[in-house]
Amino acid sequence: MATKQNYKMNHDDQFALITGASSGIGRALAVECAKRNKNLALVSLPDSGLVRFIKYLKTNYPVTIQHIEIDLTTKDAPKTIYNWCQNKDIKVNLLINNAGRGHLGSFFDYDYDFYENILRLNIESVVLLTRLFFSTLTVRSQKA
Ligand SMILES: NC(=O)c1ccc[n+]([C@@H]2O[C@H](COP(=O)([O-])OP(=O)(O)OC[C@H]3O[C@@H](n4cnc5c(N)ncnc54)[C@H](OP(=O)(O)O)[C@@H]3O)[C@@H](O)[C@H]2O)c1
Repeated sequence: MATKQNYKMNHDDQFALITGASSGIGRALAVECAKRNKNLALVSLPDSGLVRFIKYLKTNYPVTIQHIEIDLTTKDAPKTIYNWCQNKDIKVNLLINNAGRGHLGSFFDYDYDFYENILRLNIESVVLLTRLFFSTLTVRSQKA
């Protein structure tokens, strides 16, 4: 059953893992989680301004923040993120699969590599991250 404490996300040693956290909706969700005292494990593309954003968050919110910069279109990205969490003892009980992109125009405007990358980003990484973190997410819902 959801309690007021759960709603506030005040789980001391637990993290929200957010992909695409340096800009747009992912960035906004990171701020909202920090406001609710949720520790953050942030994922973004390399050199996307995440470090500067983390400085802002740390100045304003007393939460623990870990981050990894990785391209989610690379084949082993979900496993790399999962292993990074294991190695750093980052306990994830909230997974926000935010990273993704859309595109405009005709199907034939884009080449094979484009579709391979977008499938990895929008589909493969979402399914594989959810599967990898599934057990830690369900432990939380059983306790709630
Ligand atoms: N805004 C809308 O109207 C709308 C509508 C439907 C669906 N969506 C979906 O909602 C999500 C957020 O939308 P948004 O408007 O905030 O989009 P956005 O500003 O374009 O942000 C997309 C996010 O995806 C991340 N990303 C893109 N390519 C990546 C890659 N190869 N590896 C890792 N991360 C990658 C970026 O991460 P970093 O910048 O952190 O590196 C960025 O934060 C997206 O999945 C989008 O498709 C948005």
